[in-house]
Amino acid sequence: MPGIVIVGTQWGDEGKGKVTDLLAERADVVVRFQGGNNAGHTIVRDGDQFKLHLIPSGILYAGKKCVIGNGVVINPRVLIGEIEDLRRRRIDVGGLRISANAHLVMPYHVLLDEESERKLGKLEIGTTRRGIGPCYADKAARLGVRVQDLLDAKILRKKVMTALLPKQQALRPFARDPSLDLHAITEDCLRYGHRIEPYIADTARLCWEALDSGRTVIFEGAQATMLDLDHGTYPFVTSSNPVAGAACVGAGVGPTDINEVWGVAKAYSTRVGAGPFPTELDDDIGTYLQERGGEIGTTTGRRRRCGWLDLVALRYAARLNRLSALAITKLDVLAGLDPIRVAVRYRSREGAVLDEFPYHQTILHGATAEYEDLPGFDADIGACRSEAELPREARDYLDLIRDRTGAEIRLVGVGPRRDQVIWTGRRAEPRLRAA
Ligand code: IMP
Repeated sequence: MPGIVIVGTQWGDEGKGKVTDLLAERADVVVRFQGGNNAGHTIVRDGDQFKLHLIPSGILYAGKKCVIGNGVVINPRVLIGEIEDLRRRRIDVGGLRISANAHLVMPYHVLLDEESERKLGKLEIGTTRRGIGPCYADKAARLGVRVQDLLDAKILRKKVMTALLPKQQALRPFARDPSLDLHAITEDCLRYGHRIEPYIADTARLCWEALDSGRTVIFEGAQATMLDLDHGTYPFVTSSNPVAGAACVGAGVGPTDINEVWGVAKAYSTRVGAGPFPTELDDDIGTYLQERGGEIGTTTGRRRRCGWLDLVALRYAARLNRLSALAITKLDVLAGLDPIRVAVRYRSREGAVLDEFPYHQTILHGATAEYEDLPGFDADIGACRSEAELPREARDYLDLIRDRTGAEIRLVGVGPRRDQVIWTGRRAEPRLRAA
């Protein structure tokens, strides 16, 4: 006790890194359980900015165990780059542990991702082109290469050869590309294996030992609920399960190891890549949110699509993840907008009222959002440290979210800095203090 899962409730980029960073201070272990370097967390610490794609945000606390769980797909080149960068900046990475069972993103996965997007043309998903989908596909097809394989040259070669054959056929025009060269791939992998060997561990056991001795373990999700392979806006989703339930599979713990589920939602909505986005704003307000919120992707540098908060989707995410706490981030970005609009229901192409998030793709694609308008606020709220200090309009906005989602808001972000947060709710301090 306790196990705490942190997940995104929208389309990603909600600020999970900041929330994890805050909760991690009092935790003993932080575990990533899915996704790969398609994710990107930006953490600002003492004026320094850190961009992490694979290593859990907790690494900035010396000695904290930071686990890359079995459910993550790891590009070893990127991982080594991150380790080196942190070391250069004098961050102690001694607490890093990498699951021996995690799958590896290989060069041919990246090539396949790029090619599959190119072939889709206008129908592209808008992936991050980091090879994530093809890697998870190989995992399911039992053609994956895992971290533990890096330590055995014979097995590694055999596995890469088996996985490579179908790719060489599918990617014939790239026959000479080093991404398809067995020798080059295995040599690189062996070098990577040598570098990361000290960090490879039985990470599920590490989590059990921490949980069984009463220490706090945080399971840090990447991407978000609406990008979930099963529950998101398929096929415009990622290839893993970012919902809370997946923390068990991706880290190797049981459902009763989880005591709290924190959902993170931005005070408005953003999405990168293609796919339905009912509250999207193609106007000046969308641009205002994009610019004020600095809505540029950490991983790909793409401009994020912006829109109003979507309570239909948020309610769906709250139930799907069975949230016990909600963190609202970037409330400050809404300052200066009047009215503030909130989507409370959808209307289908045929005119039907949709109070619940539609499970059918065709209905969702034709749905338009219907709004309630709330008065806006002008004040800079960046210095507020309690809910009572917020302008009344901002408090009303939070109350509406509470009211319509049934979730308990425990944290509100009022600026990019670590200290620019308000702890709210019945227990104004996180329960973690006891940890
Ligand atoms: P993939 O995960 O690279 O396959 O991309 C699939 C979809 O998920 C695309 O729409 C991406 O833009 C989106 N996506 C993947 N990772 C993130 C993330 O960390 N934040 C936001 N969107 C993401």
